[in-house]
Amino acid sequence: MKVGVFDSGLGGLTVVKSILSTLKGAELFYIADTKHAPYGEKSKAQILAYSLDITRYFIEKHQIDALVVACNTATSAAIETLREIYPELIIVGTEPGIKPAIETTRSGRVGVLATPATLRGEKYQQLVDAHVDGKEIALYEQACPGLVEQIEQGKTEHPETEMMLRSWLDPMREQKVDTIVLGCTHYPLVSNLIEKIMEHRLTLIHTGDAIAKRLLTLASKKGHHNQGTTQFDIYATGPIDQSIVANLIGNSVPVSTISTII
Ligand code: DGL
Repeated sequence: MKVGVFDSGLGGLTVVKSILSTLKGAELFYIADTKHAPYGEKSKAQILAYSLDITRYFIEKHQIDALVVACNTATSAAIETLREIYPELIIVGTEPGIKPAIETTRSGRVGVLATPATLRGEKYQQLVDAHVDGKEIALYEQACPGLVEQIEQGKTEHPETEMMLRSWLDPMREQKVDTIVLGCTHYPLVSNLIEKIMEHRLTLIHTGDAIAKRLLTLASKKGHHNQGTTQFDIYATGPIDQSIVANLIGNSVPVSTISTII
């Protein structure tokens, strides 16, 4: 089973971490499209073009059997087109964990942090309509422009990042939000800051484990035996913070640079 995983940068590695502990005996290729990050502040057409280029590259270069779009923003912009063009490919996307958040909250007050593109996308609205309508749930949606850049620059604990997060989270804390959906795969990298700012007990929802499980289910249906070690290579289309890669995945996976995709 050859699996291609991509995101605009480091965020998708939070999903890769879950995949590496679930999927055995596979070959995993990761592309961090740092040349074009952040996706969340680009148009749908641009995000779709990057997603198509990366998928084509994975298929031509690595003959992948499965694609994981480890990015809420790219899933929103591209997953339908990808499924139409590549019906034979296993395709797993990433969506904000609204459903698990609703199952978890006690106060009925749920925060959603995501990129501007994810929150304005049709897919997000469909998700909310499907899971929230008719329930006593107050959703506090917050776009976080600039947060992905901070994380890409390695500023996961920087005072500047804390200030940005405070401006978005203070109202949620005051409203007694007890569950926050991390609707961007980069945001688990600032979990500590979010917990510090919210002060009270809080559940953070991210979907890496659910994605890994879904991938394993679909791979098994295609005859994958899930035994042995998984090989893993990381490629970046531009600069990348190696220390965050090492923190998440360990030092043993070097990052190669590719500039030939787009
Ligand atoms: N990590 C991505 C997501 O899940 C995209 C972040 C970005 O590039 O804006 O939405």
